[in-house]
Amino acid sequence: MEKIITVDGLASSGKSTLSYRLSKRLRWPWFSTGVLYRGMAYVALKEKFKEKDYLPFFKSKDWRIELTPFKSLFFYKDIDISSQLYCEEIDEKASFLSASPSYRKALIPFQRDFYSAEKGLILEGRDCGTILFPSAPLKVFLTAPEKKRAERRKKERTKSLSSILKAQRQRDERDQGRYFAPLIQAQEALCLDSSSHTIDNLVQIVYEKAQEIFFKK
Ligand code: DC
Repeated sequence: MEKIITVDGLASSGKSTLSYRLSKRLRWPWFSTGVLYRGMAYVALKEKFKEKDYLPFFKSKDWRIELTPFKSLFFYKDIDISSQLYCEEIDEKASFLSASPSYRKALIPFQRDFYSAEKGLILEGRDCGTILFPSAPLKVFLTAPEKKRAERRKKERTKSLSSILKAQRQRDERDQGRYFAPLIQAQEALCLDSSSHTIDNLVQIVYEKAQEIFFKK
């Protein structure tokens, strides 16, 4: 059985926190796939990319992703830029970029290659359980009311709650409305509302499910 757990869901629903904690408990690597779109968005803004520049850059050796224990890092020209990827400008650019079908298609095999049967993998994003690993034995779909999600993001951003809420609504629509790889819940996914649980509780629920699926005698 493939040792894969996918965690998909809406923006700021707590996917990264859950994945990080699961990664620590199971000792499986964690790939926050959003870092790919964020890293590309950073470079596109910095280098003032035009439409024609994206795919050649993607194929170049100017960037890489490294999964260290409990972090997904993006390197541009050998410099780790990961800490610069979590701001409003990148939120916005990454959201537009991730709606491009040709770009998304190019990224599919790249993301799949991070899986190793020996180590297992926790993938977190929007299409991990539907497009990247539709055969994953354990899929989680996280939701939470939009206001709760915006309040979460407010702790990490400088804008007002109302502008965060507005931008979040637009990004949700873009994620759910794109025609290739939209954010949808895989039928068999375990759907959890993160606002109805403490984080410890949430981790425990998924951890127990993982034990049942992957480690049953
Ligand atoms: O999860 P995140 O906020 O770091 O994701 C950044 C952006 O990338 C967000 O706009 C959604 C998009 N994304 C995606 O379309 N598919 C993924 N598998 C992961 C992220």
